[in-house]
Amino acid sequence: MKRIVIVGASHRCLTMFVRGLKDMRGKTLEFVGIYDPNKTRCKVFRDEVGDSLVIYPDFDTMMKEASPDGVIVASTDNTHARYVIGALDYGVDVYCEKPLTNTYEDCLAIREAEKRSGKTVHVTFNCRFMPYFAKIKELLRSGIIGKVHAVNYEYMLNRWHGGDYMKRWHGMMEVSRGMLLHKSTHHFDVANWLLDDEPVSVSAMGTRSFYGNPERCFGYRCSTCERSAECESYKSQSAPMDKALYFDAEHEDGYIRDRCAHRPESDIYDNMAVTVTYKGGTLLTYTLNLFSMKEGYNLTITGEDGMLICNNFGKGFEDKGEYEIILMTKENEVQRITFPIAEGAHGGGDIKLREMMFGAECDDPLGQSADSFAGVVSAMIGIGANESIKTGKHYDLASAIDTLR
Ligand SMILES: NC(=O)c1ccc[n+]([C@@H]2O[C@H](COP(=O)([O-])OP(=O)(O)OC[C@H]3O[C@@H](n4cnc5c(N)ncnc54)[C@H](O)[C@@H]3O)[C@@H](O)[C@H]2O)c1
Repeated sequence: MKRIVIVGASHRCLTMFVRGLKDMRGKTLEFVGIYDPNKTRCKVFRDEVGDSLVIYPDFDTMMKEASPDGVIVASTDNTHARYVIGALDYGVDVYCEKPLTNTYEDCLAIREAEKRSGKTVHVTFNCRFMPYFAKIKELLRSGIIGKVHAVNYEYMLNRWHGGDYMKRWHGMMEVSRGMLLHKSTHHFDVANWLLDDEPVSVSAMGTRSFYGNPERCFGYRCSTCERSAECESYKSQSAPMDKALYFDAEHEDGYIRDRCAHRPESDIYDNMAVTVTYKGGTLLTYTLNLFSMKEGYNLTITGEDGMLICNNFGKGFEDKGEYEIILMTKENEVQRITFPIAEGAHGGGDIKLREMMFGAECDDPLGQSADSFAGVVSAMIGIGANESIKTGKHYDLASAIDTLR
């Protein structure tokens, strides 16, 4: 049975791993330790797992005393590298939440640590496991649209979801490095994986268009806001998990989960446009905004012999009750490829990702498992894009990625 320890008593870790792996607990794996500076949040995990989950005062004590076989790193993004490298140096495999990390220096340090340890880093790119993207991958692999020349990927978050990032650490550039790392790491990885190619150069623009508007900042935090009914980003504190993990734990570290989405302190871009060129010649144009009326994406992949049109806006918007990918190999001839909507979080991706990471060994014909190289390549697109926004110049990804092999 694998002994697993946790770094980061986060909402994600509780739902994705502790609850998500419930059926495997006690059979193929057991959670034996947790470290997070906030002990109130750690206790929520112990209540869930039982007394066998030891709450450790620091990471090194945990690594020495728990003798784990694997470490799940699910803390804030800016802290991943320290624990990934630490775990590797203790000779232990790592399961790291995305983004693997968010600076070039950390990318380099992780790759070097992995080489010297001989252990493995797995990155939780769950989009690869969504049946929808798996189907696109299969179609591209079949060669039905020929060599891909252009990928147009527009991603829209609604004001509840987009606003949610503005309320806490994600909204601080210093911690998350913005959405081109925190969120787009999924999308850049999907593009890299679908194309089976490496990016060469990136240029980007970013603005803060919607959030931070003093006229929309109605109060300090949602839970005490008197104008919550008027706000599209309002977050209720009624969910028991939110109460236990955040509201009851804030006395320890002052982490307030429901600051106003328009608070003046958050400083990340909420409106971004990115262009990436690939070795094979493909051009990716990508946009992300955090303030749309409807959440979803438009993804169009244009090849030499056809195109795939993949629009996903979910309920209330052309709700077809099933997934649909449009394939065109001749002008005005539409083939609709439909298949059932998957159960579970993140479009069914989380279930399959957990099976691949912690289940019985199985084949991976589509190459859905993501290693540290995939993690750093995706992160580098975001890092390069941020740099390009600052300098107004293209960022040379090929040279940076060559140092990370
Ligand atoms: N794969 C996905 O689809 C997905 C979805 C959501 C979140 N995530 C990732 O999961 C991670 C957690 O996100 P969340 O929103 O659930 O976070 P959260 O805000 O619920 O928790 C973050 C935790 O990190 C802890 N922390 C802060 N500094 C730390 C340090 N120095 N050492 C150890 N722990 C520290 C905090 O105390 C807190 O418990 C992030 O990396 C995020 O990007 C991934």
